[in-house]
Amino acid sequence: MKMEMERQIGIPNRNPAVFVFLLLLVSCQLCSVVSWKKEEFRNCNQTPFCKRARGRKPSSSSFAAHDVSISDGDLTARLVPSDKTLEDQDQIQIKQLILTLSVYQDGILRLRIDEDPKLDPPKKRFEVPDVVMPEFLSKKLWLQRLSTETIGGDASPSSIVYLLDGYEAVLRHDPFEVYVRKKGGNRVVSMNSHGLFDFELLRVKKDGEDWEERFKGHTDTRPFGPQSISFDVSFYDADHVYGIPERATSFALKPTRGPGVEESEPYRLFNLDVFEYIHDSPFGLYGSIPLMISHGKSRGTSGFFWLNAAEMQIDVLGTGWDAESGISLPTSQSRIDTHWMSEAGIVDAFFFVGPGPKDVVRQYTSVTGTPAMPQLFAVAYHQCRWNYRDEEDVEQVDSKFDEHDIPYDVLWLDIEHTDGKRYFTWDRMLFPHPEEMQRKLAAKGRHLVTIVDPHIKRDDSYFLHKEATEKQYYVRDATGKDYDGWCWSGSSSYLDMLRPEIRSWWAEKFSFENYVGSTPSLYIWNDMNEPSVFNGPEVTMPRDALHVEGVEHRELHNAYGYYFHMATADGLVKRGDGRDRPFVLSRAVFAGSQRHGAVWTGDNSADWDHLRVSVPMVLTLGLTGISFSGADVGGFFGNPEPELLVRWYQLGAYYPFFRAHAHHDTKRREPWLFGEKNTERIREAIHTRYMLLPYFYTLFREANTTGVPVIRPLWMEFPSEEATFSNDEAFMIGSSLLVQGIYTEHARHASVYLPGKELWYDTKTGVAYKGGKTYKLDVNEESIPAFQRAGTIIPRKDRFRRSSTQMVNDPYTLVIALNSSQAAEGELYVDDGRSFGFQEGAYIHRRFVFSDGKLTSVNMAPAAPGQNQFSSECVIERIILQGLSTGQKSALIEPANQKAEIELGPLLLHSKKGPTAITIRKPNVRIADDWVIKLF
Ligand code: NOJ
Repeated sequence: MKMEMERQIGIPNRNPAVFVFLLLLVSCQLCSVVSWKKEEFRNCNQTPFCKRARGRKPSSSSFAAHDVSISDGDLTARLVPSDKTLEDQDQIQIKQLILTLSVYQDGILRLRIDEDPKLDPPKKRFEVPDVVMPEFLSKKLWLQRLSTETIGGDASPSSIVYLLDGYEAVLRHDPFEVYVRKKGGNRVVSMNSHGLFDFELLRVKKDGEDWEERFKGHTDTRPFGPQSISFDVSFYDADHVYGIPERATSFALKPTRGPGVEESEPYRLFNLDVFEYIHDSPFGLYGSIPLMISHGKSRGTSGFFWLNAAEMQIDVLGTGWDAESGISLPTSQSRIDTHWMSEAGIVDAFFFVGPGPKDVVRQYTSVTGTPAMPQLFAVAYHQCRWNYRDEEDVEQVDSKFDEHDIPYDVLWLDIEHTDGKRYFTWDRMLFPHPEEMQRKLAAKGRHLVTIVDPHIKRDDSYFLHKEATEKQYYVRDATGKDYDGWCWSGSSSYLDMLRPEIRSWWAEKFSFENYVGSTPSLYIWNDMNEPSVFNGPEVTMPRDALHVEGVEHRELHNAYGYYFHMATADGLVKRGDGRDRPFVLSRAVFAGSQRHGAVWTGDNSADWDHLRVSVPMVLTLGLTGISFSGADVGGFFGNPEPELLVRWYQLGAYYPFFRAHAHHDTKRREPWLFGEKNTERIREAIHTRYMLLPYFYTLFREANTTGVPVIRPLWMEFPSEEATFSNDEAFMIGSSLLVQGIYTEHARHASVYLPGKELWYDTKTGVAYKGGKTYKLDVNEESIPAFQRAGTIIPRKDRFRRSSTQMVNDPYTLVIALNSSQAAEGELYVDDGRSFGFQEGAYIHRRFVFSDGKLTSVNMAPAAPGQNQFSSECVIERIILQGLSTGQKSALIEPANQKAEIELGPLLLHSKKGPTAITIRKPNVRIADDWVIKLF
């Protein structure tokens, strides 16, 4: 309870009078404090739009498409209700909607349904701005013609348009249905096949109508009344569906309704600050990405994305849920049906045909953007705690890392570093010399991150509040006054981040002149941006709060944090000379957040279940575009046993975002506090990450260019292997490394499935295992199992330094694992690690190919004469070759025509008769050059 109270009043408050006052203020909420958990949040039955939509039966009403034609390169139609209960022709007239289907390159179909502006709706419904990439819009294919066909036993025709070679989009007229199919054949994804489509039109309130909604003492005035939208979406030839983060549950989404299914809540998408969230729950957490991806053995992968920022609820329906409906869909194809319900907005949906998992993420990120390329330091290890108390504490923690020979790159300061939770300020008692502190860290190549939250203290002497009030930049409450909510800073207001000019104003606050005490090595953490409001309904802003042009908060809620993250990242780009890439960590997430920085999974707990669930959570974020994510290493709440902490470091070293963090009530847990043995294990885990930094950075670049996430489910690399489809425990890092977490105490064995037909090499022992089998392996506390896939080459840097910055000029090691054809391939991407120069071609990108007994370095970077080229003197100092079946003894480097030393090992293989490992020592070829190393 103490923790809960502190959460409401902020800690520490050194003024006793203020403390007592605040204590009194919250004491009236004590009853709710005790039970402040699940009950604080609405379930579907307490959410009228969800309850209404969930109560609908298949085909309970339907619409028909009229006046289907091609206009401005799109297919357009009017949707007219064919609901028999709507006898009144006026009502039918009023309920008409406009449907638009557009086709984009790479097989993307966009479906928009909105009210007809000609029918004068009371206001314009909200369309989420600044998420769809402008480049995407230019990829529109201008439809010229549609063909008409009568499909199956339909009484009415369907209109068909070209989508991609081999694929078509179909609009069935009556009842209306939209689907993508293979040309003339099997379906891929469909919408409204079960007639669950419903669209509540905005209307003027009639006398006596009560639109208000009440929950836990809060009243939502709902001035525009019901405005929800719902429909069904079916995925064909699908074995599982994935995506729609953020929640702590299995990777493959379980059905929420249907015969034989233990009925649960639908999956909720509503950004909330959920205190002590539980694992294995469909409940939505801090972020919402309405993208679902289906995958199946027979066809592959497809996706459906609904760009809508209002609260959404999604049911995954178990087979047979529609048995009574009389609807007949092709029985030759297996299918997963889902039901999507949103409180407001419009239908703006995208269908992705795949057919491979990487195709779907490429298609999705072509709409919402690929992940930003981080600076190199951000990919390294981060040390955080709520709070590092003062400058002395910072200095001590920093020097202890060196004393214990543990590298780290970033030290974080939580809310207590500010002057009374006034962001952009420092508590000058605790942090009198912030610039000097940053300079000392920077001298070792290290960085500082400070927290900047969205709640602005309502204090007339606070510059930010003064300016924001004068400029009328705050979100308003339903009565038109500046919205006033309670957060860390006490009474607070929130900027209307929907307005681009407010985002620009916010961005300016990060200039070195405005953010006094900041230096170029300082970066930012955006927390509580759901937004979290301790005394608001469900701990957030009321839905009837008002943004610019009368947009209600309910319409954009899930994107609020996204705009805040965007403005902060923009601020870091613009400060100084604008050379450096930003780094901003955000807790709230929406579609497109990948363009602005990293994300973490919020306030987890120091227990084994949270360690386990961190993997499906991070994988799901990656699948939905957010490649740069991680969970608090060690668990935020509670005190991890040393074994759990060690296991968490061993797993976290493979998260794309690798940060330890802890609640202020927990015991200190820096890596050296648990005895020499555990320090050694943690050091080893962090070292592993630093060795793999070149590989990670190369993968971040891959994500930046293709959208394919850094860590991936096994089925993304092995799409036809059913055994991988619901594997939540192991994951791939890129296409070359497989990692299996250990999620139980005192584990002595681990069951590991190694996919494919080729060998896998244990990265610690070099032992080779044949793919396509599950192994029961012995494990110890020293590390968790990790394997390199045969046929791959991984670049590493093996020398230990204090930080990634100090490794820049270090030489590389290439680890080659040969496949059964004695071949392997891998890539290395290098740039200056910080600036935007790479966007102008300032980088090195090599492909290493081993075949026919020779290793070749091939240039993948376009040679652009006259451009700002990046160069590096770095060399490869060691090449480890595993799986060589012949006994080559010498290596010749060309074109230098020099010999390099070869030695056996270093790794012992478990079969004496099996292939050998050799090391080519000091070939010293430059990574920037073309070369060939021949073995003979
Ligand atoms: C909540 C965040 O999730 C947590 O990481 C942070 O330490 C606290 N807010 C205090 O800022």
